[in-house]
Amino acid sequence: MPLSTGDIDAVCDLVNDLCGICLDSSKSYLIESRLGQIVEKHGCKDYSDLVRKVRLGIDKQLTNQFVDAITTNETLFFRDNYLFEAFRHKALPELIDAREKTAFPTRVRIWSAACSTGQEPYSLAMTISELIPDVHKWDIQITATDISDAAIAKASRGVYAKHEIERGVSTERLRRFFYPEGDGWKINDEIRSMVSFAKMNLLQPFGHVGRFDMVFCRNVAIYFTREVRQDLFRRIAQTLAPDGYLFVGAQEFLADVGPNFTPHQHCRGTFYRPNLTAPVPHALVR
Ligand SMILES: C[S@@+](CC[C@H](N)C(=O)[O-])C[C@H]1O[C@@H](n2cnc3c(N)ncnc32)[C@H](O)[C@@H]1O
Repeated sequence: MPLSTGDIDAVCDLVNDLCGICLDSSKSYLIESRLGQIVEKHGCKDYSDLVRKVRLGIDKQLTNQFVDAITTNETLFFRDNYLFEAFRHKALPELIDAREKTAFPTRVRIWSAACSTGQEPYSLAMTISELIPDVHKWDIQITATDISDAAIAKASRGVYAKHEIERGVSTERLRRFFYPEGDGWKINDEIRSMVSFAKMNLLQPFGHVGRFDMVFCRNVAIYFTREVRQDLFRRIAQTLAPDGYLFVGAQEFLADVGPNFTPHQHCRGTFYRPNLTAPVPHALVR
């Protein structure tokens, strides 16, 4: 079904309101290819009619289908591997050293915000398992969240097709952390038990999710406006331990989100740590 200019505006406004994602008329092919089937399946006159139905908020399943279709779930195991190297060789050992002197020396809390279909949190769990030999004696929790129901359901199942495994999983890791299931591979119980999944919209308050030693918020804020990004990273700063670590996507920079974080370099990888002396600028105070 062809898109009118009015349809594009209506869809873009709704996507922005629901997910914070900025779309414009240059993405009309994407809107058509992702939402066309939903328009037809639900007997909508056009895309504006679909928007109207979603905005009514009565059919929650329709809203979920809309969000699942419009979000980009592209991800892979050990994406931007040098960031995982910085995690493995710098951030995690430093954190373990720092926690050794505390009342909870074996407790590690990590948040994979916008985890998509689970490759990111499972890559973190595999890395931790490789680094800490008696990992089962540790209190490790990786909380993995995403706005998409479909992505969370797939992540939680932990079953991946051959082509998904081939994107980032070495033969050695495949042997150690997966077992065959159907035509694909399933993550083993040791790794699965370190990760808990939940649906969560980053636009909404997330203070209740807990306090984390590390947050991975990668390749999602690139779709948001500057204001939404600023607000998101200000709130993430509040959930991070004062000596915590933040990892963002390889192409993302936090220079324009205010003084909450200071960049740190390890080999080619950049991660961020809370800037404890930063005043909160008025523009960022709600
Ligand atoms: C490109 S994937 C990134 C996955 C992973 N972090 C990575 O870097 O490989 C972006 C994810 O952000 C999720 N997303 C988009 N808007 C969101 C929002 N407002 N709240 C939570 N997740 C969102 C999408 O559903 C999608 O799974």
